[in-house]
Amino acid sequence: MREAKRRNPEPGRDGQRAELPEEICLRIPREQTEQGTLILVNRKTPLKSRIPEERLTGFPEDKEPLPGGGFRMLALEQETARMLRFALQSLSGPGKIALVSGYRKEWEQQELYGKSLREKGEVFTRSYVAFPGCSEHETGLAVDLGELTEEIDYICPSFPYRGICQEFREKAAAYGFVERYQKDKKKLTGISPEPWHFRYVGTPHARIMKSRGMCLEEYLDDLQNYPLGKRELVWQEEGWQFSIGYCRVCGEEALLQVPENRLYQISGDNRGGIIRTVWRRI
Ligand code: DAL
Ligand code: ZN
Repeated sequence: MREAKRRNPEPGRDGQRAELPEEICLRIPREQTEQGTLILVNRKTPLKSRIPEERLTGFPEDKEPLPGGGFRMLALEQETARMLRFALQSLSGPGKIALVSGYRKEWEQQELYGKSLREKGEVFTRSYVAFPGCSEHETGLAVDLGELTEEIDYICPSFPYRGICQEFREKAAAYGFVERYQKDKKKLTGISPEPWHFRYVGTPHARIMKSRGMCLEEYLDDLQNYPLGKRELVWQEEGWQFSIGYCRVCGEEALLQVPENRLYQISGDNRGGIIRTVWRRI
């Protein structure tokens, strides 16, 4: 539920309008901190809000074969699906990437976890399967990709650092995806390296994380150093300047200023905070 109040821009020194864009004030209920493309979901930070059915879409969306290939129909969060489609379409070699796993309901994660425990044991399972209620697959923002071969392992598909898979990996950040579980980050993520698991965090966050070598846990910690409206993180890419600011929602709601005439995005972090990203053409 959003309520907007107009706030007029400050007049400039010469009596004309200041550079500031007009702003409106949004009421952000606490639950909104649990939703959005930047939410952190891990063993210590379980998912708090289920993604609404209407935010999910089948992927691929149509019957046309995807340039990037694919062997099963997944469900994904809508923006994630759209950007994955663009990323796959940008690849040079068609038909070599399999869509292995996307959105999972909590009971599906539970079944997968139980089956893995029975068949592969506890050490393997804790390394490669998120605890039910704590999987990024339950958000619709994660996708597992595999090299298209005769046999594909559902839990640990092969997605090598060469060929078409590497091409996808190199392009992923431009489309808002990060390779989520990298080898030197297990202490932070709790999960062993998974070269096949990509998480949608959106633009420009994926490129910032990649260029700074940060996993999502590190990036969200770092964003707390950029208080909204005060000392925001400024980032430029491809003709856009982005201002990224963080605010904690204390109590039941927070009031957030957003520009009326510019693109902006709001996401929770699933830890009681909100991240506002404002886009400006430069
Ligand atoms: N394989 C990842 C960690 C999951 O189960 O969510
Ligand atoms: Zn995965």
